[in-house]
Amino acid sequence: MELKEKVYYVGVNDRTKALFENLWPLPYGVSYNSYLIVDDEMVALIDTVDVAFFEVYLKKIRSIIGDRKINYLIINHMEPDHSGSIALIKQYYPEIVLVGNKKTFEMVEGYYGVTGERYVVGEGDFLNLGRHNLRFYLIPMVHWPETMVTFDETCGILFSGDAFGCFGALNGGCVDKLINTDIYWNEMRRYYANIVGKFGNPVQKALQKCSGLPIKMICSTHGPVWEAEIPRVIDMYDKLSRYEGEEGVVIAFGSMYGNTEELAEVIAEELSLQGIRNIVMHNVSHTHHSYILADIFRYKGLIVGCTTYNMNLYPEMESLLSKVAARDMKHRIMGYFGSYTWASAAVKKLAEYAEKLKFEVVGNPVEMKQSMKADNYLQAKELAGAMAARLKSERK
Ligand code: FEO
Repeated sequence: MELKEKVYYVGVNDRTKALFENLWPLPYGVSYNSYLIVDDEMVALIDTVDVAFFEVYLKKIRSIIGDRKINYLIINHMEPDHSGSIALIKQYYPEIVLVGNKKTFEMVEGYYGVTGERYVVGEGDFLNLGRHNLRFYLIPMVHWPETMVTFDETCGILFSGDAFGCFGALNGGCVDKLINTDIYWNEMRRYYANIVGKFGNPVQKALQKCSGLPIKMICSTHGPVWEAEIPRVIDMYDKLSRYEGEEGVVIAFGSMYGNTEELAEVIAEELSLQGIRNIVMHNVSHTHHSYILADIFRYKGLIVGCTTYNMNLYPEMESLLSKVAARDMKHRIMGYFGSYTWASAAVKKLAEYAEKLKFEVVGNPVEMKQSMKADNYLQAKELAGAMAARLKSERK
C-alpha cells in the first residue's frame, strides 16, 4: 500500500490478542504499523511489528522490494509490539544498519542481543536515502525513555512512534481520508489514557517540538495514517496531555447489593436536573477500568463512591483510584460518597485519595449506613448540586 512518493505501509493487524500489554481489552483489535521507504539509492524500514506476525510482515516487505536489500532499520520505539521483529529482520537482512539513539541501543542489546553496524543519532541529526531526507527528533518519555520521531522532509511525513496512535485494527484502507474513522476517536482516548496518560508533560514537549514541522501526514505505530484529520488528532493529544476536561461527570461506584448504587442514581438524576448533559455512570466491578479511565480523561467532573470492605475501600474502587493516581491525573473536580454496615471506612479512605490526587473537592461527602434514608437522599442531591454549580461556573 503506497502512501506517497515510494513510502509504503507494511504494518499488520492483530485481531487475536485479548489484552494489549496483557492489560487493556481490544474490542476492535490493534494494528502494528511499520513503513518502508523505497528510495532510488537506499531502502529504509521504519519500526517493525510484533514478532508473532513476522511471516506476513516479511511477505509484505518482499512484495514491494523483492530481493533488494534493506539498508536501514529506523527504530523510533523499542516496546516489543514494534521492536519484536528486530532480531529476525537482522537475520534476513544481516547488512542492515540499525538507526536509533543511545538509549535505543541499550534496549536492542538487552532485549534481543543484536549487535552490528549502527547509526546512533541525536537531536536533529539526519539520514539521506537519495531523494528522501530523514531528520530525527528525540521525544523522551512518550512513553518510554528512548522514544523518538522521524520526519521525512521530502514529503512531509512524520513517523511518530506511539504518539498519535490508537487502538483498532485497520479494516481495508489505512489512510484516514479513505476509511470510516468513527471507531478510532474513542479508542484514541482510551489508548492515550491507559498507555501514555501519565506522561502529559513529555507529550506537551513533543507537540511543541513538532509544531514547527510542515507535517502533511502522520504515520504512527498504531491505527490509521492521519492526513485529512491531522488538526483533530493533534488537538485531541494536546487536550489530553494538558488534562483538559469537557463539561461532564463520571460517576464511578462500587456497590455489593445495590444500596450504594442507589446513591449514585440520585446523584446522576440531580446532575441531569441541574442541566449537566454529559453524565457517564460506571460500575467499577463491571466496566473494564480502561474505559472508566478514558472517560475520566474526557470529563472534568468525577464523583466516586463505594461501600466499605474489610475496613477499607471496596477493592475495585481502590484499584481504579490507584490507576488514576498512577497517571498523575490533574485538574479534576471531585465529589465522593460511601457506605458501611457496622464500621465506616470508605468515606475516610476516599478523602485520603482526594488529597493524594490533589483534586478540587466539591460538596460534602455523603456517608450512608446500610441503606438510603431521607437525609442521605438530600445529601446526595446537594452533592450533585454542588458539582453542577461548579461545572456551570466555567461556562462561557
Ligand atoms: Fe505500541 Fe509503546 O508500544
